[in-house]
Amino acid sequence: MAETSLLPTRTPEELGSAVRAAVEALRAGEPVALPTETVYGLAADARSPRAAARIFEAKERPSFDPLIVHLPDLGWLERVAYFADPDDPRREKMPSSQWGSFARHQRETVKRLTGAFWPGPLTLVLPRRSEMIPDIVAAGLGTVAVRMSAHPVFAAVAAAFGGPLAAPSANRFGRISPTTGAHAREELRGRIPLVLDAGPTAHGVESTIVRPESGCLQILRPGPVTAEQLAEFGNVIHLSGQAKDNRPEAPGMLESHYAPRTPLRLIDEGSGLPTGHEPARGALLAWRRRRPGFLAVETLSPAGNPREAAARLFAAMRRLDAAGADWIVAERVPTDGLGAAIMDRLTRAAAR
Ligand code: TXA
Ligand code: MG
Repeated sequence: MAETSLLPTRTPEELGSAVRAAVEALRAGEPVALPTETVYGLAADARSPRAAARIFEAKERPSFDPLIVHLPDLGWLERVAYFADPDDPRREKMPSSQWGSFARHQRETVKRLTGAFWPGPLTLVLPRRSEMIPDIVAAGLGTVAVRMSAHPVFAAVAAAFGGPLAAPSANRFGRISPTTGAHAREELRGRIPLVLDAGPTAHGVESTIVRPESGCLQILRPGPVTAEQLAEFGNVIHLSGQAKDNRPEAPGMLESHYAPRTPLRLIDEGSGLPTGHEPARGALLAWRRRRPGFLAVETLSPAGNPREAAARLFAAMRRLDAAGADWIVAERVPTDGLGAAIMDRLTRAAAR
């Protein structure tokens, strides 16, 4: 493949021609990198197994890791997913009135969640309509992960394309998610035709993934929509930290995601370095306060604000990774609110 173009979207003219170029590539079955409010995504036609295969190829992503499907509008939800699976084996064991009320409750919960958080950084895992979303997109699972991006550039492309777009984060597999157009191009240069550039993303960490199930909301991945916000909509259960092997029950929760090339370890804020770690050889990812003597230092949020910290996290990790240090130490952050998503990503980055 020839050079990967980075197309600006600042003026209405630039946006118009970038959207046209993206839609043309998508219609030809090519993947294109697009900004979302969380991280940049690598999008392709979610109804086409061949287009989806190009995503796995460009990312070098293993085929057992399913993709998130991004909808152009709410009307698409019932075309790609069910609220309750008509083939659910539990259905046979229930009287039909009981199944009916279970299905109504699931529908009600999903409607309330989409009403509150869509378009936005919430992904829902629901029973999949396999006639619309092929096996390769969902890695053969009976479910599909769906969301609707609030980013104006993503929304414009999805609307002009007029169909669902499969879009994982636009990084090579296991690497740090891109939060700028330049980072997306750095990851996938020569592998895809286009990146639409809209500068840094607003949230900086990937969407919250939730599976609604019998009145419970299972959090498969913490993100910008916090457990505290979700508690209003059902009993919140955390499933994220549990998967340790390569084929987790909640897939995608592979432990060594988001890894910089430089080994990374976690320490408490302000605490001493692990033995044998000379500051002059290392890099520090500080929570609030810089410390002297390191080869490189990044501070997530001097004010201790988790929103600011999340927005800076991946770019800071990339800069420290490029600093030529032997190791990175990252300070743990408080895990309330968005801090849970930050600690989730840091723990995975440290896990190899
Ligand atoms: O914010 C985001 O969600 C970004 C932007 C681009 O939308 N996308 C993103 O995609 O983070 P990705 O592929 O990097 O992460 C999606 C995660 C994976 O861990 C995947 O395993 C999980 O979602 N996933 C996808 N389908 C699933 C399903 N049916 N059940 C459980 N987990 C699923
Ligand atoms: Mg990813």
